[in-house]
Amino acid sequence: MNPRHFVTFMDLSGEEVRGLIRRAVELKRLKTLYEPLKNKVLGMIFEKSSTRTRVSFEAGMIQFGGGAIFLSPRDTQLGRGEPVEDSARVLSRMVDAIMLRTISHRTVEIFAEHSRVPVINGLSDRFHPCQVLADMQTYFDHRGDIAGKTVAWVGDGNNMCQTYIHAAQQLDFKLNIACPEGYDPEQELVEQAGDRIKLTREPFEATEGVDLVVTDVWASMGQEEEQSLRAKAFANYQVDAKLMAVAAPDALFMHCLPAHRGEEVSAEVIDGPQSVIWDEAENRLHAQKALLEFLLAHA
Ligand code: CP
Ligand code: NVA
Repeated sequence: MNPRHFVTFMDLSGEEVRGLIRRAVELKRLKTLYEPLKNKVLGMIFEKSSTRTRVSFEAGMIQFGGGAIFLSPRDTQLGRGEPVEDSARVLSRMVDAIMLRTISHRTVEIFAEHSRVPVINGLSDRFHPCQVLADMQTYFDHRGDIAGKTVAWVGDGNNMCQTYIHAAQQLDFKLNIACPEGYDPEQELVEQAGDRIKLTREPFEATEGVDLVVTDVWASMGQEEEQSLRAKAFANYQVDAKLMAVAAPDALFMHCLPAHRGEEVSAEVIDGPQSVIWDEAENRLHAQKALLEFLLAHA
């Protein structure tokens, strides 16, 4: 049987995502020992830095009775040019699932194509599905189902934004995206999502009456050299109290973290009453435990 992967949000149906969210909420409340992955091993390859992704996967595997191995290109043969295909074949004969955080999304795809075990995207240049799974759990937990609601994405049309485009389709919500010219998400993704997506240059237009406001850093990992250029391009795209004021009165604010207060979001908003960023970060653990349980059961 071919293993199930989670390379993009589209690898799960809307029904499966809802099932995972329900399960993640159950796991979050579970206080008794539960070790469905006893002796199972997750291999984790990180080409970029991480706090949340690494710790949540590692802690999740330990809590489930298994373990996780941290691998970086710096001290494996991956960094010395061993083909990704070969690495996938070899690793997948030794571990039960593989999570990757890669510079190029193609690397995760190649891994999945050659792996005998489930492959999970822990962030690539194009997508960050684990984070959006946790975001969705957070929304459902605070406000109920997101179907029929409207989300505003303010800022860069980056890996997080592109995953929200997928989630809008799978979970049936509307997504207004406000980003400066030159920083749009991939056109093909926007077109595939059809009329669920509204693209604008105006943060206030995107945020009017919405149920959830989301943003992310202006310069993602690997774009550090563009920081000052981007700071200029995004100057009018800060999520501040004035912008939050045009959203629905009970709108939530989310940010995948790490955040730059005073850039993409004001301290007043991210540390304010509408912000659910700490639940959102914690839910990485619970959502990914539900995901691991699901993927390994289908492997
Ligand atoms: N949000 C997120 O993925 O955080 P890390 O980069 O710390 O893993
Ligand atoms: N867009 C950010 C997300 C970090 C979790 C990045 O890719 O660096």
